[in-house]
Amino acid sequence: MDFSIKAFDTKNTLTAAKSGCIAVAVFENKKLSEAAKALDLNGEIAAAVKSGDISGKAGTTLLLRGVAGVSAARVLLVGMGADEAVSEKSFASAVTSALKTFATLGAQDAIIAFPVENVKERDLAWSVRSIVVAAADAEFRTDGQKSKKDPAPTGVRKLAIAVPQATPQVKAVLAQAQAIANGMGLTKELGNLSPNVCTPTYLANTAKKLGADYGFDIEVLDRKQLEALKMGSFLSVTRGSEEPPKFIVLKHNGGKKNEAPVVLIGKGITFDSGGISLKPGPGMDEMKYDMGGAGSVLGTFRAIGEMNLKLNVVGIVAACENMPSGRATKPGDIVTAMNGLTIEILNTDAEGRLVLADALTYAERFKPAAVVNVATLTGACIVALGHHNSGLFTRHDDIHNALADELMDAGKQAGDTAWRLPIGEQYNEQLKSNFADLANIGTPGGASCTAAAFLENFTRNYTWAHLDIAGTAWKSGASKGATGRPVPLLTTFLLNRV
Ligand code: BES
Ligand code: MN
Ligand code: ZN
Repeated sequence: MDFSIKAFDTKNTLTAAKSGCIAVAVFENKKLSEAAKALDLNGEIAAAVKSGDISGKAGTTLLLRGVAGVSAARVLLVGMGADEAVSEKSFASAVTSALKTFATLGAQDAIIAFPVENVKERDLAWSVRSIVVAAADAEFRTDGQKSKKDPAPTGVRKLAIAVPQATPQVKAVLAQAQAIANGMGLTKELGNLSPNVCTPTYLANTAKKLGADYGFDIEVLDRKQLEALKMGSFLSVTRGSEEPPKFIVLKHNGGKKNEAPVVLIGKGITFDSGGISLKPGPGMDEMKYDMGGAGSVLGTFRAIGEMNLKLNVVGIVAACENMPSGRATKPGDIVTAMNGLTIEILNTDAEGRLVLADALTYAERFKPAAVVNVATLTGACIVALGHHNSGLFTRHDDIHNALADELMDAGKQAGDTAWRLPIGEQYNEQLKSNFADLANIGTPGGASCTAAAFLENFTRNYTWAHLDIAGTAWKSGASKGATGRPVPLLTTFLLNRV
C-alpha cells in the first residue's frame, strides 16, 4: 500500500478530491461526522443514515456511488459507534471494515477521512499508526514457501489519510508509522519461515543485509569466538544441534558519539525441541517461533534504520537451535556462564535463559543506558497474561521503576501493550541448586517470574528490563502466524528516547 497524508480545507475541499472512494464516519445516533457533513451537499448521506441502511455501529458500512457534488466515485459510510468521542475499539473496527471494503472495490485509490483527532485518550499519531499498521497487516502474505502463491491484494493500492493540517510533524508521524509497519513485516516474515530455512545463519545473513541497507555495523561471532569469550551457558544450548550458533551484534550509531546506547537483546532459538527434556509432539512446529525475540530486534532495527533514528542503539541476537542428540546437554549438567556463575541445567527446555544469560553479560561492554531483552521465554506467561500483553519485568528494587514506566507507556501508545510481573528474592530462592550457583528452573509455581529472576543475576551492572513475549509473538490455530509484536512497543520506546 502506498500511503500519504492530505489536509483538506476551504480551498482543497473533500468534495473536490479526485479519488476512487472516500471513507467517512457516521454514528449510531444517526449523526454524521464533520467529513460526512462536508460531503453531504444534497442531504443524500443524511437520508441514507436516516433510512436505517447503516446502523452506525462500529464497523458497519454502506457504499454510495455518485453522491451529488462529490468528485470521488464512491463515498463509503463507516459506522464509528455511539460516541463522537470515539473509543479506541470503535476506531480500530471502523478502520478494519473500511480496509476490507477497499479491497473489494474496482478502485485504485481511496481517502480515509475519519475523526483521527477525536479518539478518546489518543492522539493523531496513534490514529495514523493504527491505519497504516492495519493496512500493512491486511496485505501481508506468507507465501514465499508455497509453489502456488496466495492471491495478490486487490482493490485500493493508494491510501490517503485526511488530517486537519499537513504539518511536518504529521508527515513525520506517517513516516514513523510506515517504518513500524515495515519492521513488523520483517519480524513476521522471519517468524513464519520454516525452521529449516530460518536458521541461526539465516538470521545472521538477514542482519548483514540490514547492515548493508541502513549502514549498521554488523558483527557475527561464531562458535570459536564464543568459546574464547567463555560463553559456556549459551554454548550448552547449541551442543545437540548441527546448525552452527551465531551471536549477532548490530550497531546503529544515530546519536552523539559518546552517548550511551540502548541495547536490545533477542532470544533467537530458531527451533526449540526442548533438547533432551524433549517437548511433546503436538504443536511442536510452533517452536519455530522461538526466535520471536530475535525477529523483533531485527524488525526494530529495520524500523530505526528507515527512520534514521537519532539515537545509539545496539542489537544483540543470540541465535541457535535447541536439539537432542548424543552430544546434547543433559539434565544435571553444570556449565559456567560468561560472568563466572555456574548453572545446573535441570531442564534443557529452559534454554532461553541460558542463551540470554551470556548475551546479557556481553552487553556490559557497551556501558548501556538501558538494556531490554525480548524473549518467548515461558509458556507460563501465556497462562498469566493470555495473548494480550507481553510480560514486563524489571529489577525489584522499587515499584516505581522508570524503565518499566517508559516501556509500559510506549506499549500503550503503540497499541502493543505489556503488563508488569514481579521478580525478587523469593523467586531467586526457588532457583537454588545443591551443586551449582543456581539452577536453570525454579521449584513449581511462578515459572515466568523464576525465569526472569534467573536473568536478573546477569544484569547487575546496568538498568534492565525483560519482555516475555511467549503470548504475543505469534497466533496459533487457523490464523497461525507471527504478529510482528513487540516491534511497535520497542520502536516507540526508542522514539520517545530521542
Ligand atoms: N520457548 C519456550 C517457552 C514457550 C513455550 C513459549 C510455549 C511459547 C509457547 C521455552 O524455552 C520453554 O520451553 N520454557 C519452559 C520452561 C520450563 C521448562 C521451566 C516452559 O515454559 O515450559
Ligand atoms: Mn524451551
Ligand atoms: Zn524456548
